[in-house]
Amino acid sequence: MTDNLTIVDHPLIQHKLTILRNKETPTAHFRQVLREVAILLGCEATKDLPLADVTIDTPLETIQSPYLEGKKICFVSILRAGNGLLDGLLDLIPSARVGHVGMYRDHDTLEAIRYYYRTPDELDGRQVIMVDPMLATGNTAIAAATELKKSGAKSLKFMCLVAAPEGVQAFNKVHPDVPVISAALDRQLNERGYILPGLGDAGDRIYGTKG
Ligand code: URA
Repeated sequence: MTDNLTIVDHPLIQHKLTILRNKETPTAHFRQVLREVAILLGCEATKDLPLADVTIDTPLETIQSPYLEGKKICFVSILRAGNGLLDGLLDLIPSARVGHVGMYRDHDTLEAIRYYYRTPDELDGRQVIMVDPMLATGNTAIAAATELKKSGAKSLKFMCLVAAPEGVQAFNKVHPDVPVISAALDRQLNERGYILPGLGDAGDRIYGTKG
């Protein structure tokens, strides 16, 4: 559909996504599995981090071995559901910096309204990976990416769990330079902006709240 969308079609991810889609999956299990999927998706999102050889001694020999060059990472969670992915990403890269962007969807217009914004300094020197489980209309992700670019982010990616074609298209139109990494591209949005078949409201599933 677009050059900028990568669907990570790994059996473990697809298996775990099925658990997440199942409405019978209880909150604690949902949270745990989302955290695991975040680690797997995070491997794809970070696959081009630069490496440089360093010299180390194994118990047997001295070798040149690849080591992360120290490109700084910043994960940005789009509140509140993004936090469900953030936990797994921080398991993967505990030293990463973290930003938070609070956006909520106006239920009538589906527009993204910003209510919180806090990011680390020097975003321009970091690989910034913003996360939100659902790419639905794209309005929230578009607004968040615009804000992050205004704060200096130059190398930006968006990692989600489930994307709708409408959201991917809208996001790609405004931010063609931002790769999107997702576990699935679903069929469509419904009239309320929910992804079909989707997994429901990700925030409610993570935190056990209701609509
Ligand atoms: N946000 C969600 O949590 N779920 C959807 O299906 C769409 C947007």
